[in-house]
Amino acid sequence: MDITALTPSNLLGRRSFDVRDKVVLITGAGQGIGLALAEILIDRGAFVALVDIDEIAVKTAAQRLGSRALAIVADVRDRGAMADATQLAVDYFGRLDVVVANAGVTPKPATVRTMDPADFDRVMAINLEGCFNTVHPALDHIVAAEGHVVVVSSCASFAPGMAGSPYMMSKAAVEQFGRALRVELAAAGASAGIAYFGVVDTEMTHAMLDQDDLGRELDELLPWPLNVRISAAHAATVIADGIARRAARTIAPSGWEPYALLRGLVNVVLDAQLAGSGKVKDLLDRVERRSGR
Ligand SMILES: NC(=O)c1ccc[n+]([C@@H]2O[C@H](COP(=O)([O-])OP(=O)(O)OC[C@H]3O[C@@H](n4cnc5c(N)ncnc54)[C@H](O)[C@@H]3O)[C@@H](O)[C@H]2O)c1
Repeated sequence: MDITALTPSNLLGRRSFDVRDKVVLITGAGQGIGLALAEILIDRGAFVALVDIDEIAVKTAAQRLGSRALAIVADVRDRGAMADATQLAVDYFGRLDVVVANAGVTPKPATVRTMDPADFDRVMAINLEGCFNTVHPALDHIVAAEGHVVVVSSCASFAPGMAGSPYMMSKAAVEQFGRALRVELAAAGASAGIAYFGVVDTEMTHAMLDQDDLGRELDELLPWPLNVRISAAHAATVIADGIARRAARTIAPSGWEPYALLRGLVNVVLDAQLAGSGKVKDLLDRVERRSGR
C-alpha cells in the first residue's frame, strides 16, 4: 500500500488535479486575474490558451509567456468564435483539460431607472452569455479528460446590488451555472468550481472604484474586512490552488467567507438597512443626476 496516498483529501474521496502537461483555456487572459492565472499555471507546468478580445494585450502576454502559451483573439459574446477558439486550442495542444470562464466587465454606475438598456445588454452578454459560450464548446473535451471547469463569479453575486445591478445579476447567474455544472459533471468524472472575489486590484477596480468619484464613495461603504484588496496574483493563486483540489468554490479575501456562508440572514437585515439609509439615498440621487435624470 502507498501510504503517501493517504492524504485527508484522498481519504474523503476527493481527487486532486495536477495541471502539469495539461491544457487550460482562460478567457479574459490579456490582463488582470486571467493573465496572472496563465502565468501561475504555466509555472506549474501547464499549457495555456489565452483568449481575449484585446488583440495587442493577449498577443503580447502570450509572447512573453513563451512556447507553452497560445494567444487567441475572440469575443466571448460570439458563440461561433468561442467554438472556434476551443477547437484552435485542441488542435494546437492536442487536448483540453480545464476551462476558466474569467472574462468580465462592469456597467456604468446607474440605477435601474436611469440605466441605458444597451449597457445592461452588454454586461449580460459578456458576463453571462460569454460564460456559457466559453464553457459549452469545451465540455466534451473536459469530460473526455476528466478535467475541471472554473466559472469566475464574484462576491457581488450576493452583495447589495444598487447602482450596479447588471453586474450583480450576471454574477449571481454565473454562480447558479457553476452549481449546475458541479453536479452534472460529477456524474461524468469531471468537476467544476465557482471563484468568488471581493475587491481585486486590477484595471476593472481602478476604472470602477478608483478613477470615479461616486465609485470611490461606493467603495467607502464597504466595511472592514470586506474592503480588503487583494492583488491579481493572489486571486489567481486561489483559483490555481482550487483547480489543484477540484474545489467546488473558492473565496478571497477570506474576510468575505462568513458573509458568504450567512448571506441568507445577513442580506435580509442589510437590504432593509440600506433601503432606509440617508447616505445611500444621497449617493443614488447623485448617480441618477449624473446619468441625466
Ligand atoms: N477586479 C475585481 O475586484 C473582481 C472582483 C470579483 C470578480 N471579478 C471578476 O474577475 C474576472 C476578471 O476580472 P479582472 O479584474 O481581471 O478584470 P480586467 O478588466 O483587468 O480584465 C478583464 C479582461 O477581460 C477581457 N474582456 C473583456 N470583454 C471581453 C470579451 N467580450 N471577450 C473576451 N475578453 C474580454 C478584457 O480585454 C480584459 O483583458 C471578471 O469576470 C470579474 O468580474 C473581479
